[in-house]
Amino acid sequence: MTTVLKVTDLRMEFGGLVAVKDVSFEVESGEFVGLIGPNGCGKSTTFNCISGLLNQTAGHIEIFGQDASNLRPDQIQRLGMTRTFQHTRLWREMTVIENLMVPPRDQFKPSILESLRLGRNNEPEIARLSKAFETLDQLEVPHMAHNLTSELSGGQSKLVDIGRSMMGDPELLLLDEPVAGVAGPLAMKIFSSLRKAVNETGISVLIIEHNMDFILRQGVDRIIVMNEGEVLMVGTPDEVRSNREVIEAYLGSAGVEGEED
Ligand SMILES: Nc1ncnc2c1ncn2[C@@H]1O[C@H](COP(=O)(O)OP(=O)(O)OP(=O)(O)O)[C@@H](O)[C@H]1O
Ligand SMILES: [Mg+2]
Repeated sequence: MTTVLKVTDLRMEFGGLVAVKDVSFEVESGEFVGLIGPNGCGKSTTFNCISGLLNQTAGHIEIFGQDASNLRPDQIQRLGMTRTFQHTRLWREMTVIENLMVPPRDQFKPSILESLRLGRNNEPEIARLSKAFETLDQLEVPHMAHNLTSELSGGQSKLVDIGRSMMGDPELLLLDEPVAGVAGPLAMKIFSSLRKAVNETGISVLIIEHNMDFILRQGVDRIIVMNEGEVLMVGTPDEVRSNREVIEAYLGSAGVEGEED
């Protein structure tokens, strides 16, 4: 198995606050990994460092074997990694299909030459459009194609955001709470589509989820548990479940079954 993401002693300080304290973990190719932990424990900050939005205070990040510690978000995107944000970033005045045609913000920097080439030959655009429809099919929401995203529910917007992140055929996908605020059945459907994508395409997925009871049942291969900026444990869902008392002691309300915040 190949390591697609290797985080070593990652540290992020904001002034006096140490948001991420010497965090290390790996994601292997074709793995579906959960990253969980209570509010403010450093999950999104870890993603922000990996995706190049923040310059970490210390530590190393390797993506597909390449040193990605000091790369910009668009350079990281070109390595084959895409991420989503905790708060969906859609173009509200555009339709679902139009949103899928626009690469995720901060992650794409077309050169002037590329833009000119796209302008003269619209073949890539046609291919992209058919891929956008395919993606909606995969997510089982083809009927939403021509809806304005401003008309979608929160859960539907999350689906479009996930679809958008899949448009560039990433080999490594980082999803920040893609099902927060999404009702149980749809949230489970999203997880099972991701599981299917991992199995069928060999993509690797690292997914932040807040609710431990929920993620324990969603078919992830391994779970990284963070608390107060540190990795508390890494293990299979069974291993995490069998450490339940310890985890509950650390996670408090995050371990309680129920809706996301
Ligand atoms: N840009 C920033 N500037 C200053 N402090 C920040 C910044 N980003 C995050 N923090 C702080 O770092 C800590 C970790 O925040 P982070 O967003 O990583 O938590 P999280 O685990 O994603 O939480 P949640 O589950 O609520 O999304 C928090 O105390 C937060 O206030
Ligand atoms: Mg977060």
